[in-house]
Order: sequence, then structure tokens, then C-alpha cells
Amino acid sequence: MSSEQEAAAAIRAAYPQVDEQLTRYAEILGGRGIEWGLMGPHEGDRLWQRHVGNSLAVADLISTGLDVVDVGSGAGLPGLPVAIARPDLRVTLLEPLLRRANFLSLAVEELGLEDRVEVVRGRAEESKARFDVVVCRAVAPLDRLLKWTAPLFSRGGQLVALKGETAEDEVREASKQLAAKSMTAEVLELQGLAGVEPTRAIRVR
Ligand SMILES: C[S@@+](CC[C@H](N)C(=O)[O-])C[C@H]1O[C@@H](n2cnc3c(N)ncnc32)[C@H](O)[C@@H]1O
Repeated sequence: MSSEQEAAAAIRAAYPQVDEQLTRYAEILGGRGIEWGLMGPHEGDRLWQRHVGNSLAVADLISTGLDVVDVGSGAGLPGLPVAIARPDLRVTLLEPLLRRANFLSLAVEELGLEDRVEVVRGRAEESKARFDVVVCRAVAPLDRLLKWTAPLFSRGGQLVALKGETAEDEVREASKQLAAKSMTAEVLELQGLAGVEPTRAIRVR
């Protein structure tokens, strides 16, 4: 079994109630996502182990019943896997680019998530809405993310940003900004399911 097949099997077994929705989303990413240029041509071979699997690692960090925004959602990562895995959450997918926002709207409709997932076309720094949790992946370094997203937090809100090797450096570089806003940041090692690439996140509260 390849790593991709192993990751797909482990994820589907871990989320039996939404197994078909996750599979449909992976098909959308591997089909229209690549055709429309939202996913690289080689990403079709690692949709589960890299993209869906990493996104699902965020789902475990969010408390029940909250309002979540995925800033710079792109093709819906991490917001759509989080929304599928966590039917208790309301999720906004915030994305400035028209083609990406159109992709997201189609995906939300096809996955039957319209009742609690909203697509908003726009930039984080222009949004006036408030959320309990801001999630994001591959959008900007922490100092810039903080500038854009701190105004989006409801009272007690938090940011969870998926990151790789640079997480500690980004926290260090944002230390003055964090102190000025009375915020704290921690780096979390996120253990994925079998076959899923390990990942890290910065959580800011
Ligand atoms: C590299 S892509 C990552 C997409 C997705 N999060 C992922 O991990 O595959 C960065 C995304 O951030 C969006 N973006 C850039 N600046 C933004 C801003 N100021 N507010 C919201 N989204 C932004 C871009 O349009 C793009 O879709």
C-alpha cells in the first residue's frame, strides 16, 4: 500500500460518519482543483497525506460549537476538511481571488455544506466580521497574519496557523507585536494519522 493509500484508509477509518464527504472533497481537489490551477499538477498523488490529513489535524484543536474563519482558504484548506469533520462548527471561507472563491462555492454546494459554511470573497484586513477561531495555512508569516487577523477575533478568540519548520522563528519575529497585544503564542507538534505527513501549528491566544 502506498503512503497515500495508507493515509486515505486511516483518515476514512477515523471519520466513518463523514467518510464519503471527505472522499468527495479529495475527488474535487484532484479533479477541478488541479484543472483550475488551484492545486499543483503533482498534488493529486498526496491529497490525503498532505492536504486533507494536515487540515484535519487542526480540527482537533477547536472547541465545540464555535464560529471559525479560514483566512486565505484557496481550495478550502484547512477550512473544508475542518467543516466536514466537525458538523458542530460554523465555518467561513475567506478568499480574495474570484476563481478560488467560485471554486469554494461550488465545492460547498456539492458537499451539501451550505447550511453552515459560507464563502466570503475578500481580504482578511478588510473584513468587519468577528470569529472565535481564525485558522489558516500557507498565507503569510505570523507577524503579518497577526496584523490582518487580530481584529477578527471575538473576545477570547484565537488563531491557529498551520506551519512548518519556520514556526519558532516566526514566533520570535512577532514577539513585540504579541506582547503589545497581550497575546501568547505556542508551537504545537501535530501528530497525524498513519501515512499523514506530520505538521506543526502556531496557536495564538
Ligand atoms: C498559498 S495560498 C494557500 C491556500 C490554502 N490555505 C492552502 O493551504 O492550500 C494563499 C492564499 O491566501 C490568499 N490571500 C492572500 N492574501 C490574503 C489576505 N490579505 N486575506 C485573505 N486571503 C489572502 C490568496 O488568495 C491564496 O488563496
